[in-house]
Order: sequence, then structure tokens, then C-alpha cells
Amino acid sequence: MTSAKKRIAILTSGGDCAGLNAVIRAVVLRAETLGWAVVGIMDGTHGLLETPAQIMLLSSKNVDTITMRQGGTILGTTNKGDPFAYPMPDGSLKDRSGEIIDEFKKLGCEALIGIGGDGSLDILSRLAAQGGFPLIGIPKTIDNDLGITEMSVGFGTAVDVATEALDRLQPTAASHDRIMILEVMGRDAGHIALTAGIAGGADVILIPEIPYDIKHVAAHIKKIRENGRNFALVVVSEAVRDSAGQSVLKHFFGGQKRMTGIGNILGEQIAEACQAETRVTVLGHVQRGGQPIASDRLLAAAFGVHAVSLIEQGKFNRMVAWRDREVIDVPIAEAIRENRTVEKDSTLVRTARGLGICLGDA
Ligand code: F6P
Repeated sequence: MTSAKKRIAILTSGGDCAGLNAVIRAVVLRAETLGWAVVGIMDGTHGLLETPAQIMLLSSKNVDTITMRQGGTILGTTNKGDPFAYPMPDGSLKDRSGEIIDEFKKLGCEALIGIGGDGSLDILSRLAAQGGFPLIGIPKTIDNDLGITEMSVGFGTAVDVATEALDRLQPTAASHDRIMILEVMGRDAGHIALTAGIAGGADVILIPEIPYDIKHVAAHIKKIRENGRNFALVVVSEAVRDSAGQSVLKHFFGGQKRMTGIGNILGEQIAEACQAETRVTVLGHVQRGGQPIASDRLLAAAFGVHAVSLIEQGKFNRMVAWRDREVIDVPIAEAIRENRTVEKDSTLVRTARGLGICLGDA
């Protein structure tokens, strides 16, 4: 009699980013080397709110070399609908964690691999603890704000997209003698703005970790113009607060709030303070889509392989992470405890200052 194939499950959760499909592929390929089957759960934990659960059986036949290059996630994802406080049609909140756990158990999987950011990994950890099933976390987020790991899947591609935007803004800024403002994502962390700003030759980089004073920004731009250059590039992170110290939010359908709008506020402030023409580009979700760059594919491959190896070794409730050119693994709780924002004395902050880039505080 042949014994049943070992099954593991995988889902993607939270905002999508480039490289998710590359992670899925790496998990599938590594699992196949061990003779295991992989069950993909659709739309994050939402796939487990259906009976039967919405799943996709994954193999190297349907998760192939083409998939690896694609943006988005073939499994779908969601960044709303916390299962512990799920919004119901009548406006009430319901704890639906039990339903999710029951559906997961019906799948007959020995472990779950969750690809997510801090919020998703927190929810999945609580579900795993309540349901008594093993979990492995793989960090992904363009914001790169997860603790422990130096790099999360998707960040590199988002930085590349923002850098390319600056490459495209520079010639049009120069042609029209304009100040170009680029608003980038990142939630509470300024990693995308700082990294892309340096790579893309920005004159001013504003991040939420360093409050700005428009006086300093205007003085810097005026100096550039006095020195004979009549255009400038400004990068601002979406979480930078306005002059009243408030986050700039936009309200969306269903009561969701997201940070965006500081770029336009800053554009008006600079136009007035510098008496210059400004134009604002809000890069938005372009940073999340598209093909993953090589470094995100490598990270995805290393994380996916290591995650399956952890299950093989019976090491659970760990998050894989990248540190000092190595894949390591740490307790998930440790990784999500810390929200990694830009440190004011980090190498990149010192690099920016060393290049004479204005960070808004001097
Ligand atoms: O966390 C990733 C992220 O892209 C943030 O940078 C951004 O603030 C947010 O998600 C946007 O969320 P949504 O896709 O719901 O608009």
C-alpha cells in the first residue's frame, strides 16, 4: 500500500508586490523534490471562509518559469477583512477565526506557509496558535518595514520603479525648469523614498522619520537655482506629515483610509516658497506591479526553499529572513514585534547627507 503524499499549504496575504509568484514557485519546486504536494489557498485567509475552501493544487506544471516572471500573485490576496473582527454586511464585526481553522484542517495539510507583511503574519500566527497547526512565514512588503530581515520580497522592485520614475522626471524637469515632486509609498517607513531618492539623484528626500520644515526645503532649492540649475527633484514618502503634524489620508470605498496626498501639499508649499513651477507625480500602485527584478527573484527563491526545508526539519512558527548574505529563520513573534523604520543615523541617511541631499531638517 502506498502512503498518502505529504501536503503543505501556501497563501499570499496583504498588499501584493512583485516576487510573490517567484516565492510560490520556489516552494513548489522544493516541495516536489521531497515528493510533497502543495495546496494553494486563494485570496489569503478569505479562501478559507468558503465551504469548500477555495484552493488551487500547485505543481511545477502550473507554477512554471512563466509564472515566476509575473507580477501579482496567482493565488490572489487581500489586505482587508481581519478574521478575528470580520466586517459583516449588517455592519457588525464577527470573529470568524474558527471557520478558517476548520476549513484549513479539512485540507489535510501538515503545515501552512504564509507570505505576508507584519499585519498578515500577526493574524496567521494567531490562527496557527488557536488552531494548533504549524506555520512558516515568508516576509514580503514593498515597505521593507518588517523587523529582523534586511530585505523583504518586493522592496527591491518597488525601489527600481521609483528610481526609474526619477530617471524619467529628470529630463522633463530640466526641459521646463520645474521642481518635480514624486510621492512614493512605504506606509510608516521611508525606506522606498530614501533608497530610490539616493539612487535617482533627488535633491530633496522627505521621510516620515525626519520631520521637515518647508523653510529648509525652500532654501535648498533656492541655492540650487542660484548655482545655475533651474530644476530640482523632490521625493516624498506618503507618510510624511503635513505642517499640522497630521498624516495625509484619503478615504476610499468601504471606509478604508490610505496615506496619500502629501505630494500635492508639498508641491503647493514649494511653489509658493520658491516662486517656481512645480508638478506632482503620485507613483502609487505602479510600485507594486510588474515583473520582479533579479534580486527579488533571488530572495524569493532562497526564502521559498528555506521555508520548505524548515517544515522538513520540523522547525515551526519561524519566519525566514535575510541577514548578512544568508537566509536565517527567527520566531515569527520576534520578527513582527519590531516595525523597522529608517534609523536617523543609518548608512543611507548619512550617505544622503554626505551627498548634500536635503532631508528637510536643515
Ligand atoms: O503596505 C503596502 C502598501 O503598498 C503601502 O505602501 C501603501 O500605503 C498601501 O499598501 C496601499 O494599500 P492599498 O493597496 O489598499 O491601496
